[in-house]
Amino acid sequence: MRGAQITGWGMDLPEQVVTNADYEARLDTSDEWIVERTGIKERRHGGTTSELAVKAARHALERAGRRGPEIDLLVLATTTPDQTVPATSSWVHHTLGCRGAAFDLNAACAGFVYGLVTAVALLDAGHERALLIGSDTLSQITDQNDRGTAVLFGDGAGAIVVEATEGEPLILAHDLGLDGSLTPILYCDRGGYIYMEGREVFRKAVRATVESAQRVLKQADVTADEIALFVPHQANMRIIDAMGQRLGIDPERYAIVLDHTGNTSAASCGIALCEAADAGRLKDGDLILFSGFGAGMTWASAVVRWGGAPLPPMRATGEPG
Ligand code: ACO
Repeated sequence: MRGAQITGWGMDLPEQVVTNADYEARLDTSDEWIVERTGIKERRHGGTTSELAVKAARHALERAGRRGPEIDLLVLATTTPDQTVPATSSWVHHTLGCRGAAFDLNAACAGFVYGLVTAVALLDAGHERALLIGSDTLSQITDQNDRGTAVLFGDGAGAIVVEATEGEPLILAHDLGLDGSLTPILYCDRGGYIYMEGREVFRKAVRATVESAQRVLKQADVTADEIALFVPHQANMRIIDAMGQRLGIDPERYAIVLDHTGNTSAASCGIALCEAADAGRLKDGDLILFSGFGAGMTWASAVVRWGGAPLPPMRATGEPG
């Protein structure tokens, strides 16, 4: 297997902050209930999926010292495309001036981890440099008058640049899966709003993500103690705590952003990784455990090694991005 390395990361959140107090003012809910039951204090609303994606991608490219034309593979994980056709990645690809392939990937809130595994597999198949973006605008498909879902979701995007190298593999082990029979507990019809049986989603999510994470730890032949950073999907702090306890990962090693982002779906793991990296929480060789779950119901886990061997020299790239 070819080596790969994450060389850049970036994120974007819309400007409009929606606090728990804003919901308290118009719905039968309270800051106390939302914080206790979910861990969310505020979230951001606004922008389109492509706008957020482009901004996050530009930050990631800048961090990697790369320009759009140096990217030959763009994977955009989203459940909230700007249009049904074409894929939102088409516009993002054009705006950034990328080369090669681009496509959208819908694995709901597990999208970022599904996208990471897909991008790395395509690097192994011969692509040179991938841009993975998770971008979602769930506020657009959430009934803002339904207290059961409105308080949970926010908008945002997270992106990484992943480059093929002659060095170590990026992903030590992965596990992707889904149980399509669970579609009825979490879905959104075209033109409608998210329907969710919260308690049931909670129960299934904990079980599926823990089992999946245990499989990848075993497959990678690493223990939970060796994980430097745990990057879970940011849906509910109680789900993350339940996972951490069952896996034996203490809270100091969690990457948490949901308190100020809410659940940003396919963007959440990217944003959490980005904030942790910006905070200097990662060093070369650290092992990261990614975990996602979402409508489908999908789940995804990956053990990833941060940093790696020096990159090959830059190739000719064409026009600046
Ligand atoms: N404020 C006050 N009360 C509320 C609110 C609110 N915002 N929302 C629900 N309640 C009420 C319910 O109506 C219920 O009242 P009742 O007992 O009179 O019927 C009570 O609180 C308890 O409801 P539960 O659903 O049992 O509450 P729970 O502790 O399970 O928390 C929550 C609900 C936060 C939705 C939780 O179940 C959860 O996070 N589930 C997982 C959701 C999730 O992860 N979704 C994302 C999936 S990813 C994707 O692909 C989109």
